[in-house]
Amino acid sequence: MLLQLLSVLWEALSLQVVLVFLATFLLIADYKKQIRPRNYPPGPRPLPFLGSTLHLDFKKPQISAQKLAEKYGNVFGLQTGNIRIVVVNGLHLVKEALVHQGEYFVDRPKSPVLDKIFGSLGLVFSNGLIWKHQRRFALSTLRNFGLGKRSLEERIQEESRYLKEAIEAEKGQPFDPHFQINNAVSNIICSITFGDRFDYHDSRFQKLLHLLDEALLLQGSLWSILYDIIPSVMKYLPGPHHTLFKKWGQLKYFVREIIEKHKEDWNPSEPRDFIDAYLNEMAKEDSASSFHEENLLHSALDLFLAGTETTSTTLRWGLLYMAIYPDIQAKVQAEIDSVIGQSRQPAMDDRDRMPYTNAVVHEIQRISNIIPLNVPRLTTKDTTLAGFHIPKDTVLLTNLTSLLFDEDEWETPNVFNPGHFLENGQFRKREAFLPFSAGKRACLGEQLARTELFIFFTALIQKFTFQAPKNETLSREFRIGLTVSPLPYRICAFSR
Ligand code: HEM
Ligand SMILES: *[C@@H]1O[C@H](CO)[C@@H](O)[C@H](O)[C@H]1NC(C)=O
Ligand SMILES: *[C@@H]1O[C@H](CO)[C@@H](O)[C@H](O)[C@H]1NC(C)=O
Repeated sequence: MLLQLLSVLWEALSLQVVLVFLATFLLIADYKKQIRPRNYPPGPRPLPFLGSTLHLDFKKPQISAQKLAEKYGNVFGLQTGNIRIVVVNGLHLVKEALVHQGEYFVDRPKSPVLDKIFGSLGLVFSNGLIWKHQRRFALSTLRNFGLGKRSLEERIQEESRYLKEAIEAEKGQPFDPHFQINNAVSNIICSITFGDRFDYHDSRFQKLLHLLDEALLLQGSLWSILYDIIPSVMKYLPGPHHTLFKKWGQLKYFVREIIEKHKEDWNPSEPRDFIDAYLNEMAKEDSASSFHEENLLHSALDLFLAGTETTSTTLRWGLLYMAIYPDIQAKVQAEIDSVIGQSRQPAMDDRDRMPYTNAVVHEIQRISNIIPLNVPRLTTKDTTLAGFHIPKDTVLLTNLTSLLFDEDEWETPNVFNPGHFLENGQFRKREAFLPFSAGKRACLGEQLARTELFIFFTALIQKFTFQAPKNETLSREFRIGLTVSPLPYRICAFSR
């Protein structure tokens, strides 16, 4: 009945009417179910559109959630039906949850959308033994294929040469660097995982990068939130959520094809990349049972998506900030010229002698704050946080924004200021700088990402001066997908 009614409404009326209808329906359904556990963190009355409330929070961060934090303190709890969400603010409590009580908060919550796309497989969204085995294997394989080794650094240096050539070909004219940067960054994780890089003119790979970008944007849309709340209804309704699933299907197909190709010319005694190493692991008699082809597909896909979008978004913010702050860009160039010069490739060994550039890279990461509420966690057991009872199966959102913009930690939290990471001209580490999160489930690619950020950024600023196109002002406005990224922009790169 409901379904028929909905499809009729769908045909006849605007989206808004349908949403209001759904909201009312959910409010009634919800109201009946809600029972707050004892000593649960304080918070507002249940909100039927919890997901979208948090979503709105991103767009107008000053409103909604700010009020909640002011009213209820550093830990507040929301409850809708049988879904419980606890938000944690501030360095002390975030570390308490992620590090000291890491064991209790190590899982990822499930959702109908994630289930449909990722199942319980791979690295990012898996739990329990599957996660443990996949993560351990991925970490050690990443290490074997270059993390912390010369060869990886050389790969990034080589890729930054290609990137510089591509940008030079724009001849100082305004252009959108999005997909060139995306391709360059992606090529690093592709080399490690698939054994190959892709040319920037490879139309098939460019199409794939656009697919990934669109899929990640749709992931943060109201449509997928609606699907999470009422999958049984949304399944039958037309809308962009179906496009989302189709795009992920295409991404998986791409990885599956590469795996098939690897199986054809696989030589167990000479693993070339992550996929080969995984095939070796699968062939071992005593390997854990979670090493099967579907997990290979999902681990490879997870590395590809986590290793592409994040670093590339950060670099795009970086170029934007350099064009907005020409004085800071000039100081980075002066340091590059005196430490590296104009001809040699930047290397990781240079970083210790380049405190200013290092501080700028950190400040770009701080202010761009691309994963503001971290990736959600789920409690594995009942526990206590800040004196409150947090039951098993509660979703935990650790607010990284509250660390990266804390007024007690940073001199000028809302201003781009490399001085945050400098003391008497030397680089200064900051405890509240946790863009990669912390604890057992922290970012698996942190070291790789830091290497990529330093070498790509330094190589680009060594070679070019970035400026806003004539008569245009660059905006710091953002869009929200899986990460917070700059709105598409055009920029001019002048060779130095
Ligand atoms: C600027 C770049 C990056 C940032 C800011 C970033 C940030 C994050 C954050 C906040 C998480 C969630 C951690 C948590 O739940 O506590 C995460 C997870 C993850 N990241 Fe990154 N990341 C970056 C680059 C990379 C790269 C280059 C890779 C490629 C190997 C990668 C692979 C992963 C994986 C596989 C996970 C899931 C780990 C797990 O669930 O066990 N990340 N990242
Ligand atoms: C996260 O922290 C920021 C900065 O303190 C705050 O403005 C925002 O409202 C917080 N978000 C949530 C969901 O608590
Ligand atoms: C920039 O603006 C000035 C004055 O408004 C105008 O004369 C000039 O043609 C513009 N240049 C470009 C490249 O649009």
